[in-house]
Amino acid sequence: MSIISKTTQLDKHLIKPYLNKDSITVDMTIGNGNDTLFLALNSKKVYGFDIQQIAIEKTEKLLKENGLNNYKLICDSHSNLDKYVSELVDVFVFNFGYLPKSDKTITTNAESSLEALKKALELLKVNGLISMTLYHGHRSGVIEREKILDYVNKLDYNEYYVLYVKPFNQKNNPPEIVLITRKK
Ligand SMILES: C[S@@+](CC[C@H](N)C(=O)[O-])C[C@H]1O[C@@H](n2cnc3c(N)ncnc32)[C@H](O)[C@@H]1O
Repeated sequence: MSIISKTTQLDKHLIKPYLNKDSITVDMTIGNGNDTLFLALNSKKVYGFDIQQIAIEKTEKLLKENGLNNYKLICDSHSNLDKYVSELVDVFVFNFGYLPKSDKTITTNAESSLEALKKALELLKVNGLISMTLYHGHRSGVIEREKILDYVNKLDYNEYYVLYVKPFNQKNNPPEIVLITRKK
C-alpha cells in the first residue's frame, strides 16, 4: 500500500525525523499501544496516557514483549498531563476517537482534548512536534475536529507552525492529521 493512503503509516513517517535516542515523548492516547511501541523504540523515554485500564495492560504487555522498559503508563485523562509530566517534550502523539474493536462510547471529547492540547503546547520543546490524528466519522469526533481545527488555526504564527493534512477525494470521512511545531 502506498504510504500516503494509510494515515497511521504516514503519521509515523512524518514523526520519525523528530525522534532520537535522547527524545522525551508522550503518547496521549495509547489504546492498543502501537504508537507507544513506535515511540518507545525510537526515543529515550515515553509517557503514555489512557483512561481505560485495558489499554494500559495491553500496552504494557506489548512493550515488555519487545524488551522495553523506557516507559511510564498512566491511567488518567491526558488533560491531567501537567500532574505527571514536568520535563519538556520532543514529540506528542494524539490519536483521537475510540479504541477499534472496543467500546465505541468511550471516546476522546472536544473539551478534554483541547485542554490536553493546550498543556502539551506549553511543554513542547522548540523544534519539537505535536501530531494529532482526527477521526470525524462519529458524532463526537465531528465536534472535536471542528474545535481543534478552530483552535490551531488561531495559534500565533510567530510561535508555532501548523500543518493540516487532509485526504481530498476520498469517501467516508477518512482521518486527517494536524502537525504543530514550535518555532521559538
Ligand atoms: C483511537 S484510540 C488510540 C489508538 C492507539 N494510538 C493505538 O496505536 O492503538 C483512542 C484512545 O483514547 C483513549 N481516550 C479517550 N479519552 C481519553 C482521555 N481523556 N485521555 C486519555 N486517553 C483517552 C481511549 O480510551 C482509546 O483507547
